[in-house]
Amino acid sequence: MDTVVSGTRPTGTLHLGNYFGAVRNYVRLQNEAAKTFYFIADYHSLTTHHQPDTLGDLVRETAATYIAAGLDPDKTCLYVQSDVPETAELYLLFNMVAYKGELEKVPTFKEKIRKHDTNVNAGLLTYPVLMAADILIHRANKVPVGKDQEQHLEMTRHFAQRFNRRFGEDYFPEPVAYNFGNALIKVPGLDGMGKMSKSDNPNSAILFSDEDKAIRKKIMKAKTDAGPTEPGMPLTEEVANLFGLMELVSAPEAVKSFKSSYNDASIRYGDLKKQLAEDMVAFVAPFRERIRELLADRESLDRILRRGGEQARESAQETVRHARAMAGIRYYSA
Ligand code: TYM
Repeated sequence: MDTVVSGTRPTGTLHLGNYFGAVRNYVRLQNEAAKTFYFIADYHSLTTHHQPDTLGDLVRETAATYIAAGLDPDKTCLYVQSDVPETAELYLLFNMVAYKGELEKVPTFKEKIRKHDTNVNAGLLTYPVLMAADILIHRANKVPVGKDQEQHLEMTRHFAQRFNRRFGEDYFPEPVAYNFGNALIKVPGLDGMGKMSKSDNPNSAILFSDEDKAIRKKIMKAKTDAGPTEPGMPLTEEVANLFGLMELVSAPEAVKSFKSSYNDASIRYGDLKKQLAEDMVAFVAPFRERIRELLADRESLDRILRRGGEQARESAQETVRHARAMAGIRYYSA
């Protein structure tokens, strides 16, 4: 039976990319896997977030979004990463089998140093090691994530393999990045380039906290091109991205009809955007309201997270005990 782990950095209310790339699969797996652990990666966010006053609210907002998306705290273990300090110890142990050269080559690290060139801290460099610790602390074999995390999972497998080999026991599994049925996905942004990402460009991302007006505004401002001038022209990335978003929230007939008007070069992007905006508003509004309700009852939310933290620690303590013993940290008789 499967053990599943995944996490999200607490950057506030999540965006559509987090949902369709990852959280939707968390929800489906909670009903299928033997054990599911979903956490809020607050340690990871400290690599770039330096505002202690806002961290608590961001953590709670992320937790509320998880629950609004369908995670059931009675079925799944929902916790905050830093409530399981064993993760930090496993991270330390895995740092001994992670090489500087391979960490420096990770594309997400290179990208981060480009953006945060005044703060290239060791936490950024060893980010994939902490991720491996998150996953292997529960000895998970499946990790629902978006396409951007694929390489981190590959590194997790390397660290698991090396640790097992170095200490002569096949203890840690080699987990795989997981998406239901097919390839991992990348939800596009509204700025015509790459993935939806709140930190890269807030206007490219639709957040579950966005009001109807904000959603309409972001979509109406989304990048397009000059339009097809003859039938059968290929899609530019900007327009393909809008169709990609439409496929997630609109009825298949609507997508089909706009695709065919694109193909015969009669499309009006204004109409496409209006349709997309209305469908997006209808999709996001119930989430937003539910998140708001959950956040209003802070006590219940805190209770859920505390209980999840305790459950996660039980599983984590067993793993750390074993990993320490594998490394020879077992000096005293019982
Ligand atoms: P984070 O917080 O950036 O994103 C959380 C999840 O959302 C997915 N995602 C997307 N999927 C498709 N299209 C997009 N535009 C898009 N944007 C985000 C991400 O792939 C991710 O699954 N390092 C991780 C957090 C983490 C983690 C872990 C994940 C820490 N430890 C252990 C899994 C297992 C991160 O920064 O994700």
